[in-house]
Amino acid sequence: MGAATPESVVTTARAGAILVVTVNNPPVNALGVAVRQGLAAAMAQAQADSTVAGVLLMGAGKAFIAGADIREFGKPAMPPSLPEVCRSIEDCTKPVVAVLHGAALGGGLEVALSAHYRIALPAAKLGLPEVSLGLLPGSGGTQRAPRLMGARAATQAAVQLPFDEGMARERALFLECLDSPQRAGLIHAFFAEREVVKIPEAKAAAPRAFATIAIIGGGTMGAGITVSALDAGYPVTMVERDAASIARGRANVEKVYTGLVAKGRMTEEAKAAVMARYTGSTSYDDLANVDLVIEAVFEELDVKKAVFKELDRVCKPGAVLATNTSYLDIDAIAAVTSRPQDVIGLHFFSPANIMKLLEIVVPAKVGADVVATAFELAKKLKKVPVRAGVCDGFIGNRILAVYKQAADYIMEDGASPYEIDEAVRGFGFAMGPFQVTDLAGGDIGWATRKRRAATRDPKARYVEVADRICERGWFGQKTGRGFYLYPEGARVGQPDPEVLAIVDAERAKKGVTPRQFTADGIMRRYMAA
Ligand code: NAI
Repeated sequence: MGAATPESVVTTARAGAILVVTVNNPPVNALGVAVRQGLAAAMAQAQADSTVAGVLLMGAGKAFIAGADIREFGKPAMPPSLPEVCRSIEDCTKPVVAVLHGAALGGGLEVALSAHYRIALPAAKLGLPEVSLGLLPGSGGTQRAPRLMGARAATQAAVQLPFDEGMARERALFLECLDSPQRAGLIHAFFAEREVVKIPEAKAAAPRAFATIAIIGGGTMGAGITVSALDAGYPVTMVERDAASIARGRANVEKVYTGLVAKGRMTEEAKAAVMARYTGSTSYDDLANVDLVIEAVFEELDVKKAVFKELDRVCKPGAVLATNTSYLDIDAIAAVTSRPQDVIGLHFFSPANIMKLLEIVVPAKVGADVVATAFELAKKLKKVPVRAGVCDGFIGNRILAVYKQAADYIMEDGASPYEIDEAVRGFGFAMGPFQVTDLAGGDIGWATRKRRAATRDPKARYVEVADRICERGWFGQKTGRGFYLYPEGARVGQPDPEVLAIVDAERAKKGVTPRQFTADGIMRRYMAA
């Protein structure tokens, strides 16, 4: 395949007096430099040829134009710019009609907006998703869209300036975004998310078919994973220890949908339809026909081994047996079964129905088709899968541990957990580290710290505040109290003076004289970690 040329990626054909301009730059007709040149040339041709009465602009394949070629961002700009191309379409003295039969996104929508008319087929998808890549529309999206849809539907300040001034302001802000590290980071993440699904096992094997899912455990994670699977359309059987626990597990699942109904985002009928796919059970024997099992019971190796012995006893041959363990040795869990080739780690993050990351932990003996199945499941659950090896904490928790340690040191040195969380939120994270602990449940980290105590370097700095809090049974949101107070099941915590007293006592014990931190000072230490 040769390099894209303007002639190869933008073709023109005549249909009577109409010039049909087709963008043909697979896979999604991205607006790389050759496409921009081709479009500019086509518009010049339409303008110059007196036998052309009008222009039809369309995309070949599935998309109209699904956006800019973001690979070009951060590199020297190549003319013509997209605003220039859009201007040439808008300024054409002959009517230009854009036919939208598929995705018209970002720069693609901006091209469509500069045409004089648009015809959208039912499959058309319109949007300006560049905002999720740290950018704003840079080719008239902020100016033409509100002028077309009306000020009421427009959100950004687009209707306040005359068009040309608005365009100049848009361009200036776009270039500011383009230069920002946030844009570079988000685009790096965009490509990284595409790279992570390219796994060696995909070449070796196809995924196993799966239509039914079972979840063992109905606590924080079991319920969240159940919701995730129900949302993806699967029937789910949840197994708990006893009648009281399965009632609580079901309530944990139902609570999520009740919340959606209360917010008007789901109807009672839709909730009932989803819950009809949920079955609660206290018997492993109900799992004889299930295709894929995800275990999310207590983080204790012996408990998990007992569960996997049961799964080995009841599950049909070929069922995928996954554990949601955060830290435990999955090879050891697989070893208690007669079928280690079927055992894999599926490490979700809390809240599991919302968080996108899914670590797929690959033990020594697992079959390639089971790894491929796990990636297929991730796709079905709309997760971002990342392949991890068996090790203490896999990837996400090892990163979090480093942040957490920095936060603990800052806390012991003088900042309150609330000041630290506020600084971290102010920087742009959705939550601070102590809020994360409360959300995930302090007991999980506590169990790990106790397990590691014997091998911890006695000379290494160790902050005991979290242990003091866990010793009181304050495990965060699930117990109504952790680093924060959660009166009557509140999701947003309130600062707890007793926690501050614990922090003070620990500082005094270590002989630490607390010092003042600014938010900036907190973030410098936190990010440096
Ligand atoms: P949890 O304490 O909220 O829930 C555990 C549930 O398992 C309880 O409802 C308990 O009744 C049930 N259970 C215990 N033994 C059982 C058995 N033999 N059969 C059936 N059910 C049984 O704990 P959580 O937070 O949901 O954690 C579960 C697992 O998920 C752990 O391995 C944990 O490390 C892992 N995990 C936790 C995350 C978190 O943020 N909480 C994140 C990722 C993984």
